[in-house]
Amino acid sequence: MKMSVIGVGYLGAVHAASMAKLGHDVVGIDIDADRVAALNEGRSPFFEPGFDELLSDGISSGTLRFTTDWADLTDCRVHFLALGTPQKPDSNSADLSYIQSALASLTGALAAAGASGGGDGSRPLIVGKSTVPVGTARKLRDQVADHADLMWNPEFLREGFAVQDTLTPDRLVYGVAADDETAPEVAILDEVYRAIIDTGVPRFVYGLETSELVKVSANAFLATKISFINAIAEVCEATGGDVTQVAEAIGADERIGSKFLRAGLGFGGGCLPKDIRAFMARAEELNVGEAVGFLREIDAINIRRRERVLNLARLELQGDLAGKRVTVLGAAFKPNSDDTRDSPALDVAHMLHREGAKVTVTDPQAIPNARRRFPELTYVENCEEAMIDAELVILGTEWARFRELSPTVTMRLVHPGASIIDARNVLDPAAWRAAGWVFHALGRMSPQ
Ligand code: UGA
Repeated sequence: MKMSVIGVGYLGAVHAASMAKLGHDVVGIDIDADRVAALNEGRSPFFEPGFDELLSDGISSGTLRFTTDWADLTDCRVHFLALGTPQKPDSNSADLSYIQSALASLTGALAAAGASGGGDGSRPLIVGKSTVPVGTARKLRDQVADHADLMWNPEFLREGFAVQDTLTPDRLVYGVAADDETAPEVAILDEVYRAIIDTGVPRFVYGLETSELVKVSANAFLATKISFINAIAEVCEATGGDVTQVAEAIGADERIGSKFLRAGLGFGGGCLPKDIRAFMARAEELNVGEAVGFLREIDAINIRRRERVLNLARLELQGDLAGKRVTVLGAAFKPNSDDTRDSPALDVAHMLHREGAKVTVTDPQAIPNARRRFPELTYVENCEEAMIDAELVILGTEWARFRELSPTVTMRLVHPGASIIDARNVLDPAAWRAAGWVFHALGRMSPQ
């Protein structure tokens, strides 16, 4: 099937390449001409395991191409919307302006071409994938009604596993205006996802509002799980308990489950933080702000973890950070990603710098993005080199490269008597202490 993907940022580019992999004829469109040129040359604008291969397969087989020209889209049967919905600078709400302007361009092009979605007389189908405030899809549907049908199909992919999550998802969710399995849009999207559906993956057909809510609820629940265990970490720190053991034991209860119970520096990235804030803002507009008021606390617990690391750093460095050499291992918001949006590790590095510390940051993939955000920090590619003469080391992102560091080898590199704060609970405290390190891990330390 011929289809377009509108917006080829992280989500859209992976979706476009994955649809080409499923055998479709895909054109991706973006206003960023440099990004479009890079993608057409098979160069990925971001780091994502497995994506480069998918991209070059699609480009070389001719089933995948990228454009900035809306006229290239008018014979597509389906148009996926994969635009960002970032937090507005002055409020918690989601900024829908990218979606709005893309839809205006698309409907303009469809009208100019007298397009009928593949030339068989049927109407083009717009399929929203972006995370939007509940109620958005229905408004957009009314807005485009003269030119196209519209349904919603939220995306649940994780950075670092984006290709796998797109091609082998846990579930597919379709939101249709009529909340009806027999709606014609359902059959079209089934055709798009045929190869995935045939593997037996659950597919749920709901109303538009429910499908929007499934996405934000999933992210709110994941954020809640992380902040829950981080709240327990705070209590562990006050009592001498060990949060990793609490997580292990409660996670063994199948009703709770062990995933997303890794205590540490908390959640970041382009999704969970902004999604819970946009959910609160939308609930307030709907006069049900109280129902999700607890998310304010989830956000606050999350931010407190960063402050906790800063306080620990002050304690370790005798109360004054000025001029102290601190190395932060990690700039990406999570391993296997070069994304530094709302990265807890990078945020901590920046806070230390603001207090006068000499901060060196190292990361296997995210240095270019980190440097663009905070050019004032020092960046070193090699993590052992980054640790030379450090008085304090903070592990802020749990890359395998950092987990595998040798406590004895690194001990010889750092300043005598240096400390390490394992802010992701991935190092073995006994091994690091045995090598001579002053070792702290969040949620598993003696009360101070
Ligand atoms: C998240 C969701 O997991 C995806 O299902 C969703 O599709 C995506 O947002 C989205 O809305 O697009 P992602 O932001 O890629 O995916 O990252 P996660 O794996 O959810 O991690 C988020 C943050 O939580 C990271 O900073 C990670 O370090 C942190 N985290 C995760 C913890 O601190 N503890 C945990 O136990 C798990």
